[in-house]
Amino acid sequence: MSDVATLLFGREDIRRRIEELGRTITGDYAGREPVLVSVLRGGVMFLADLFREIRLPVSVDFMSISRYGDAQESFGRVRILQDLDRDVGDRDVLIVEDIVDTGLTLAYLISVLRARRPASVEVCTLLDKSARRIAPLELRYVGFDCPDRFVVGYGLDFRERYRNLPDILAVEDPAALADAPDALLPHLLA
Ligand code: IMP
Ligand code: MG
Repeated sequence: MSDVATLLFGREDIRRRIEELGRTITGDYAGREPVLVSVLRGGVMFLADLFREIRLPVSVDFMSISRYGDAQESFGRVRILQDLDRDVGDRDVLIVEDIVDTGLTLAYLISVLRARRPASVEVCTLLDKSARRIAPLELRYVGFDCPDRFVVGYGLDFRERYRNLPDILAVEDPAALADAPDALLPHLLA
């Protein structure tokens, strides 16, 4: 382990938690056919694993959005880069997110989706960094509470790097990582 980052959630913890989430979602949505909406790109890893633990006829769709600069400065203004392929009117929508931080991105996304008159909109996030929440949100399903730290791995990136780490690491020293962006590459071999 380097000093730059420490292990926060290991792959086995993640796998077990996703199994539990899948069971809960399967029970809650019994008799329905939810559509899982994944936000590119960080959410796809979680989606792929969660999806296979939901024993219902589910469909998936994708959306790509970008914030205007930093969350605080953009104050939730988000641009849709790629919209869903299908209409979600009268559907049970479950948004699958990697992490909810300020919540501004998700609050915007929920408002966009609600305007399309779905039967329901709920959120399943792997990580909840609630200490930094600005937009009040109800998160129906949460994998883990996340400390107020920058995290990478399992879909989460540092400048597009490290999404493919199987574990989730907390970056101890973001400045050091900015200076040496390859510092965590050894973790890819661990
Ligand atoms: P929010 O609008 O502040 O909730 O932004 C959430 C988005 O910011 C997530 O979907 C991630 O793409 C990104 N993000 C927030 N915290 C982290 C982190 O610790 N590591 C990597 N990406 C993060
Ligand atoms: Mg995201």
